[in-house]
Amino acid sequence: MRNVTKENITDTFLGYFGDDTDPRLQEIMQSLARHLHDFAVETKLTHKEWQVGLDILRRAGSITTPERDEFVLLSDVLGLSSLVDMVNSSEEGTSSSVLGPFHISNAPAMPMGSDLRGDYEGELILVEGRVLDPQGNPIAGATLDIWQTAPNGLYSSQDPDQDTYSFHALFTTGDDGRYGFTTVRPVSYTVPTDGPVGDLLTATGRHPWRPSHLHYIIKAPGFRTLVTEVFPDDDPYLDQDTVFGVRDDLVMKYLPQKAADFPGSGYVLSGKVAEDYSLVDFDLILTAE
Ligand code: BEZ
Ligand code: FE
Repeated sequence: MRNVTKENITDTFLGYFGDDTDPRLQEIMQSLARHLHDFAVETKLTHKEWQVGLDILRRAGSITTPERDEFVLLSDVLGLSSLVDMVNSSEEGTSSSVLGPFHISNAPAMPMGSDLRGDYEGELILVEGRVLDPQGNPIAGATLDIWQTAPNGLYSSQDPDQDTYSFHALFTTGDDGRYGFTTVRPVSYTVPTDGPVGDLLTATGRHPWRPSHLHYIIKAPGFRTLVTEVFPDDDPYLDQDTVFGVRDDLVMKYLPQKAADFPGSGYVLSGKVAEDYSLVDFDLILTAE
């Protein structure tokens, strides 16, 4: 095209693909270009404004390390990570939710009923439930990879005072599909704000808070891997999660229990609990691959 205009530039771009381009790549790039071009026209984007946008990307690149990915965070606060999750989520199973940047691979396998709280201060919670198929049958041999913040609101990878795998655990279900463990009640926390994403949140009048949650990755042979989170129903940030991760079926009651009602067996803390605690009962439904 010799005479590229505002009116024909999008169609011109759409026609520039080689015959051997992967069809899916072509579909994605064409749609992306259509929306980006529309965005520039609709907002009458100026050079100066686009430089600000490019500068955010440039700074995201500079601050990104293997341990801290600012591009993922940008996608999270734009709602794009959650949208990709929802577009790919199965309708019949438990909803998926954001992975976030703080998952650590190779968490230690722990026996069912283990305690993650250890010597940390904070409200004791007992988390239990079943891993089920959509018909309600228990799934044996499912692994649950669990992680959460310590009571100071930090994940172990952010906090030099924690052991590498503190508040991380891997459980495997038996024939009954059940899982259960004790831990400390997670707290609300802020996503990292010391990079360009933090500046963007400030400039747009947004706070950086996430409601408190426990993270899960559940894998079982023959089923789709589920990445999700569970939230307490009384968290003040439930309706304003800065990364848009909350779904109705992931919000659970933390039911207050008397110390005397703590299960007498099956938990590392059985027979040792002298304080009242909360019970979180969260079943996870996996869908076939
Ligand atoms: C998290 O839940 O760990 C998280 C998710 C998105 C951005 C930052 C943190
Ligand atoms: Fe988190």
